[in-house]
Amino acid sequence: MKKNYICNECDSFYYKWQGQCGKCKSWDSLKEVDASISSSVDKVQNLRDFMISSEGIVSSIKDIPTKEHVRTYTGFSELDRVLGGGLVDGSVILLGGSPGAGKSTLLLQVLSIISNYGKRVLYVSAEESRHQIAMRAKRLGALNDNIKILIETNIELISHFILENKAEVVVIDSIQVMNTSSSNSISGSVSQVRESTNALSRIAKQNNISFFIVGHVTKDGSLAGPKVLEHCVDCSMIMEPMTDSRFRMIRANKNRFGRVNEIGIFAMDENGLKEVKNPSGIFLQNNNVNVSGSSITALWQGSRPLLVEVQSLVDKCLSNQPRRLSIGFDSNRLSMLLAVCHRHLKLLFSDQDVFVNIVGGVKTDETSLDMALVISLISSLKNKPFPNDTIVFGEIGLSGEVRPSPYGQERIREAEKHGFKHAIIPMKNFDKKQIFKSIEIISINNIYDILSLPFWK
Ligand code: TYD
Ligand code: MG
Repeated sequence: MKKNYICNECDSFYYKWQGQCGKCKSWDSLKEVDASISSSVDKVQNLRDFMISSEGIVSSIKDIPTKEHVRTYTGFSELDRVLGGGLVDGSVILLGGSPGAGKSTLLLQVLSIISNYGKRVLYVSAEESRHQIAMRAKRLGALNDNIKILIETNIELISHFILENKAEVVVIDSIQVMNTSSSNSISGSVSQVRESTNALSRIAKQNNISFFIVGHVTKDGSLAGPKVLEHCVDCSMIMEPMTDSRFRMIRANKNRFGRVNEIGIFAMDENGLKEVKNPSGIFLQNNNVNVSGSSITALWQGSRPLLVEVQSLVDKCLSNQPRRLSIGFDSNRLSMLLAVCHRHLKLLFSDQDVFVNIVGGVKTDETSLDMALVISLISSLKNKPFPNDTIVFGEIGLSGEVRPSPYGQERIREAEKHGFKHAIIPMKNFDKKQIFKSIEIISINNIYDILSLPFWK
């Protein structure tokens, strides 16, 4: 077996025997080791040398220079808020959505506005012809000399043109049709989509270029190329049509530069997308008549309140197994609230089908919705309308206690702004010092208090 040598004194490693250790200079200190041991010693020693020569690689977090992100406004405050305060230079944004949601329209409008600031922008499309894009731009009033169009699918060529044109903001429409030579699989496959996104992300970081990458969603609503795409980008947003087909909602699932849960609302007309600055208004637009099974709550979406209607339909079950269906709200929580109603209010739902919907396509996991949901359930069960000038929020615990919700005063203020006359809120959200001019505050401590409200009489 091949022999190597290690110094007894300083662990230095040698392939051949020698009388004196080259490192610690001690004489006759080398001992034989077999090659398998020596190779691992060799690795450790190489690693040690590397570490010594790479001083500074491991550094204190305090020594790393920090600088604020430079942001560009997109011209739409609804989009800027979802992005965390504007488009961060060098960031990669994924915009997902079903076909026809308005992704291409929005991004062409954004490029038009950004190019007016003097930034160099490039729209890379592989789904539509130059003619189609120009026609859309004409419709949007975005026939702008500074918007450059490229029709290409190869990521390496696209990268070349981006750098050659010194583009600062780039739209890739869409990532599913792009391909890169670093992957052998077919276009649209998970591997191609991931490698293409990674390649664009590298260009973004190395050259401080911002990218909007369009991604199609699959039928179940997830981004094609499942979650892998979300890992490769800084911000992932979904654009979805709302129940009223004129409106579109943008929501961030992931944002390295801002908070998630923010939503932005847009209206589509014949000249493209316009932002809706008062979204509570559109969620409540049909709420003019008092009907049973409906109540209004104030959600907290990212950084602002949003008034939405919660609807319930409680109907006699004709089969052995009552149905529980919840749209926009966790169905396990619905089951829990039904059990709380049974236990503490003696209201029986076990022979009833229960359907719950948050109007307008809003999805939430906020527990502050509990009270409004319970009230809409009782209203439907008793077939008694709950007044539509009353706002309700608050979490309900298993023992029937009503728990406070964050940003209580802001929620009440939003309701007051929209002309609501009463607010039923958790006792702990009640603040004596806060005076509201036109809204009466009714604070409650326990779910029992709901049944003694005057509205049911
Ligand atoms: P589009 O941006 O092509 O959707 P996506 O890129 O998400 O597939 O939008 C297509 C829809 O928007 C289509 O139904 C037509 C409509 N639209 C308008 O209503 N007004 C407009 O000004 C534009 C450009 C499109
Ligand atoms: Mg499109």
